[in-house]
Amino acid sequence: MRRSIIAGNWKLNNTEKEAVALVTALRNVFIDLTELDIVVCPVFTAIPVVHDVLFESNIAVGAQDLYWEDSGAFTGEVSAPLLKELGVKYVIVGHSERRQLFGETNQTVNKKICAALRYGLTPIVCVGEVLQEREGNKTFDTIETQCKESLAGLTAEEIKKIIIAYEPVWAIGTGKTATPQQAQEVHQFIRRWLVKMYQDKVAMTIRIQYGGSVKPENIAELMAQPDIDGALVGGASLKADTFIQIVRNSSGILK
Ligand code: PGA
Repeated sequence: MRRSIIAGNWKLNNTEKEAVALVTALRNVFIDLTELDIVVCPVFTAIPVVHDVLFESNIAVGAQDLYWEDSGAFTGEVSAPLLKELGVKYVIVGHSERRQLFGETNQTVNKKICAALRYGLTPIVCVGEVLQEREGNKTFDTIETQCKESLAGLTAEEIKKIIIAYEPVWAIGTGKTATPQQAQEVHQFIRRWLVKMYQDKVAMTIRIQYGGSVKPENIAELMAQPDIDGALVGGASLKADTFIQIVRNSSGILK
């Protein structure tokens, strides 16, 4: 049985004050909602205040990135033990913006996943094709390479602890969502790849989120697909009412 998971990726948005207002609204609404996992991923500097507001709530805190070394001469970086110390439970790794704007590669993603797992953080590992790859019928090749290289060397026990987020790059922040069928097709491809690498029993437990212009209006249809286990929500997670509606419209679905 896979528990649904809805995560909000706030990206570079929300001051401490705005973050507190947002999570206060979410906390109060979701106080009795226990049937799915809810996560918010603020900027690093807002993590402590967000964690305080969410203390003993059923909303977990995630980070948007991490560095693979624990400490040392790595100016500007934040490591897994430091996130752990702040009460962080999840960390997004290899988001397409990090891949495109900050030179993230499958190899650095792999190191980051290993660092997160060493400290008991759940990595949300992002994969996804760009428009040119989709139009050139290269989607499955791209996804397979990203999975193979980003997840290289992970044991079955380790892979069970990660979440994969399929985020077609052409759908991120564009308002252009993949159709439920397009998304399901890639989710199923990823699950079959996991079956090939790790066998059925393991592959069936791994949660695969969809991300890319998720809104209250399209979440239910996406979540109704057999291999879609949740969503990574960008823009629509910045407003309490839309995020609340997304969670509401996706709850009650266990796979
Ligand atoms: P979006 O972003 O929902 O604004 O498209 C999704 C993401 O980047 O994770």
